[in-house]
Amino acid sequence: MVFKSQLVSLNQELLFQNEEKVKRAAELAIANTELLFQNEEKAKRAAELVIANKELLFQNAEKDKRAAELVIANAELLFQNAEKDKRSAELAIANEELLFQNEEKAKRAAELVIANKELLFQDEEKAKRAAELVIANKELLFQNAEKDKRAAELVIANKELLFQNAEKAKRAAELAVANEEISIQLKEIEGAFWRIVEVATLLTEMRDPYTSGHERRVAEIAVAIGAELGCDARQQEGLRVAGYLHDIGKITVPSEILTKPGKLKPAEYALIKTHAHDGYEVLKNVNFPWQIAEIVLQHHERHDGTGYPQGLKGEDILFEAKIIAAADVVEAMSSHRPYRAALGIGAALTEIELGSGTKFDPAVVGACLRLFRERGYSVPA
Ligand SMILES: [Fe+2]
Repeated sequence: MVFKSQLVSLNQELLFQNEEKVKRAAELAIANTELLFQNEEKAKRAAELVIANKELLFQNAEKDKRAAELVIANAELLFQNAEKDKRSAELAIANEELLFQNEEKAKRAAELVIANKELLFQDEEKAKRAAELVIANKELLFQNAEKDKRAAELVIANKELLFQNAEKAKRAAELAVANEEISIQLKEIEGAFWRIVEVATLLTEMRDPYTSGHERRVAEIAVAIGAELGCDARQQEGLRVAGYLHDIGKITVPSEILTKPGKLKPAEYALIKTHAHDGYEVLKNVNFPWQIAEIVLQHHERHDGTGYPQGLKGEDILFEAKIIAAADVVEAMSSHRPYRAALGIGAALTEIELGSGTKFDPAVVGACLRLFRERGYSVPA
């Protein structure tokens, strides 16, 4: 019996345990359902988390990408800042440069203002000048018109001159013919003149035949001295005429006094001395191309004032008269005279030489001595 009771107890126990197990199974089923539900929720959540995780990963990747971009952008900004600083420094320098340039510009502007004023002034001056030029231009136009008018007049005048020139050429040809005739006549007159001079000389020599040839020789010696002193042909011609006529005044002196041998009395000598002035009187109205009458008047004057008739001295005596005086003495001393024999050219030249600067002009004496002593000149026959 015990055993059965044990079995019933055991059985009950087992029943109870079964019930407990069924209860537990139900509870487990519920719990399982719950767990399934929870698992589904968890799976769902996990799926959502996966999605969320992917989203986060994506977002992280985006953020990393963005961060990298920001790093790059930051570096870029740093670089840009450095550039900006550099640029700022450059701008500061450029600014100073601009300030300096502005000052320069201001200075230049001031200068330009001054220059502008100057230009304005110049413009005014130019305008003024332009106005003057307009006036001057009008004046020139007027003058040109006048010149044109004058040119036309000159053309007419030129034609007139050409005509006159033709007339002059014609006249010149006629004058050349006339001149030739005059030259011939002049030579004839010149020949006649010399014949008259010779006649006058001859008349003088007829009063004093012992001095025959004296005037001609004096004339030639005077011409030679004049040539030595540089006188030209015309001056030499005057000396020749004066030489021929220098004693023409002796025509008034009695022949017996002129030809008297021996020493003359003072009165006789005084009479002879008048021949200088008388010669002047004879010749003074003859219109020679030389001062013949004055030369004749002065041919016995002496360089130191001791001559006659006026006692002239030095530069007051005509140059030609000084030459005639020297030639007169040279010829007279070297020739024969009624009251003495010829003294010779040596004595004549010594007389001249000793009288240099006193009786005779030194230049004339020098020329005379050179002629005879150095150039071989001799008194003409
Ligand atoms: Fe004389």
